Amino acid sequence: SESTETHLEGLQKFFDDLPEGNITDNDKTVFTRLYKQFLTEKATIDWNSWKLPPAERFIDASGLPEIEEGEQKDLLERLAVVRLNGGLGTTMGCRGPKSLIKVKADRSFLEIAVDQIEHVNSKHDTKVPLLLLDSFNTSAETAEALEHLGVAHKLTKVRQFEQSKCPRIYADTLLPVDGHEDEAWYPPGHGNIFETLLYTAVADELLEEGHDVLFVSNIDNTGAIVDARFVKALLENDHEYIMEVTPKTPADIKGGTLIQIEDRIMHLEMPQVPPEGIDEFCSTKTFKIFNTNNIWINLKAVRPRLDEIMREIIANKKKLSDGTPIIQLETSIGGAIRNFPNACALNVGRSRFLPVKRTQDLLVISSDAFELDENVNVKLAEGLESAPHVSLSSEFDALPEFQKRIPEIPSLIDLKNLKVAGNVVFGKSVVLKGNVELIAEEGEELVIEDETVIEGGDY
Ligand code: UTP
Repeated sequence: SESTETHLEGLQKFFDDLPEGNITDNDKTVFTRLYKQFLTEKATIDWNSWKLPPAERFIDASGLPEIEEGEQKDLLERLAVVRLNGGLGTTMGCRGPKSLIKVKADRSFLEIAVDQIEHVNSKHDTKVPLLLLDSFNTSAETAEALEHLGVAHKLTKVRQFEQSKCPRIYADTLLPVDGHEDEAWYPPGHGNIFETLLYTAVADELLEEGHDVLFVSNIDNTGAIVDARFVKALLENDHEYIMEVTPKTPADIKGGTLIQIEDRIMHLEMPQVPPEGIDEFCSTKTFKIFNTNNIWINLKAVRPRLDEIMREIIANKKKLSDGTPIIQLETSIGGAIRNFPNACALNVGRSRFLPVKRTQDLLVISSDAFELDENVNVKLAEGLESAPHVSLSSEFDALPEFQKRIPEIPSLIDLKNLKVAGNVVFGKSVVLKGNVELIAEEGEELVIEDETVIEGGDY
């Protein structure tokens, strides 16, 4: 339409006026495609048009047979692990890469990711490389952190590659944000991995080295560990793409799920749901699984199509620091599933999905309710069937506040539920058991003294 043409001209003018070298031609291509799709495509799906994918589209991880060591080694030689490291953890008020937050045994997400692959390589005598998909927000600080890790990791080649940089757009005019320097740019979501693999030549380098399978996951998901059985499942049945999914609980309403439209599997996230579908989408009655964002990709099969992958647009609404409403056009790696006729979902247990979105998640993972075992696997402490539920007040939202208010992680191994409301400050060596509520009245501070043991009811 005429308005689309005007906007595309506006974008072209914005690009033409940019100082030389501000963004690459590849990034301009990436954004132009996103922008066109956003301007011309309906954001939501027709709520009458989908059905649930049939059972044959799902594999049960628990049914995959064990593999003997020789074959495991052969399969793992073909693997490269990618951790998504472009995000800042803005929900926790982080300014640097989220992956540098210390999470367990004085190790950061990044250190755990490196140690996990180092362990695989030493156990199987393999050379599985670790790739970090950075953004312009995270690559320099990550490089510095890796340098400090230094020689400790001899077996694993760690490689960084950087995703696209795109212009934010004004929420009212939909034209690119100008004159705001740093704040004008963003990384366009992890769906951008496909073009980035192509433009950085990482895809071809990996294929040349014999790594034709990728395992991609969020860097904050310490449960996303390598499993040779999944590599085998991918290769044996010529799946181009496998998404690990896990049973949805009422707490997972924000996650993506899978539907089928005509004969394609599609990823469904909140932004694609029309108003009349929201209740059904959020319930666990129809949608029983959700996407863990652990994704297995047959790189050889996908290589010819890396720059033509279609994904739903997520129009992420934010504000600049001066309050101006803007939109970031993003895509997700889950959204790419619709491109692959032979894609499937792999049912896995909750242990493979341990996301840290908020400081309350960090508290639980960091505590003794989870342990780091000899395989560098973060898992529920022995004897626990589920993790404690923790809800912290907004006072704890920002990481520096959280760290100030909880100077030492309390023992949560015997905790079922914790609710913290208001201005609460923890001492050291605190032990919480059963169901605990810590409520500071309006205008007051509640201090939990050092070495306090609180035993709530019902445990
Ligand atoms: P999410 O988008 O779920 O968010 O990223 P986040 O970074 O965990 O947290 P918030 O929303 O900023 O608080 C999931 C994973 O994808 C990476 C993140 O680093 C995280 O590991 N990611 C996200 C990218 O690599 N690139 C992006 O553009 C966005």
